[in-house]
Amino acid sequence: MRRMVAGNWKMNMLADGAAQLAGELRRGAGEPGCELLVCPPATVLAAVAHALLGSVCQVGAQDCHAEASGAHTGDLAAPMLRDAGATHVILGHSERRANHGETDAMVLAKVRAATRAGLVPVVCVGETLAEREGGWAESVVAGQLAGSLPHGFGQSGMAGLVAYEPVWAIGTGRTPTEADIAAMHAAIRHRVGPSVRILYGGSVKPGNAAAILALPEVGGALVGGASLDARSFLAIAAACPA
Ligand code: 13P
Repeated sequence: MRRMVAGNWKMNMLADGAAQLAGELRRGAGEPGCELLVCPPATVLAAVAHALLGSVCQVGAQDCHAEASGAHTGDLAAPMLRDAGATHVILGHSERRANHGETDAMVLAKVRAATRAGLVPVVCVGETLAEREGGWAESVVAGQLAGSLPHGFGQSGMAGLVAYEPVWAIGTGRTPTEADIAAMHAAIRHRVGPSVRILYGGSVKPGNAAAILALPEVGGALVGGASLDARSFLAIAAACPA
């Protein structure tokens, strides 16, 4: 399965910076050995999608509402994101689960909405440090998968990816051991079946990308901080095994 390297820009980038980064990605991407995706904030999504039109780099959003339209001040519906040029949407990121109280049931409703709008959901799961230290990491992730993914997720007619992002590895410079990443990806594979790409996220950098991306069942990376710099993001993409 072709790997995907996806960048989550989170709440970063004004118009000028986004245009510059998109231009650098367009010029620098060449013919990558993996799929590329960038997920800018919604304010610059359409501009970034326009700047990357016809390039190898796809564009995604960072969240969507569960309804297709209606009285939801400040929210964005999946068809709007598709209309702005998104092909994918990150859902259930731990920052949304923690800061906005998103439950598995809410994530599931958003996954359904994204699929209905023709967006490919990238569903995030991952344990906290206390959960890992308590020995519950796999059961926590299993619960999130069971609650967040609709039946048939990732099978024909319902494209989708899972991103395993241990909460304690996000933005900290810490990563699980290679054995722990491989074990969790094997556990996720067991639950989602053979056709879903499983990305690893959490402090992926050019220096650790090759080792992580070569692990069994790691189908790519979801990159935060290092995706804000074209050179580091493309270096991570270049680290994908052929
Ligand atoms: P960092 O790469 O900055 O650790 O962020 C990972 C992440 O949360 C991507 O969604």
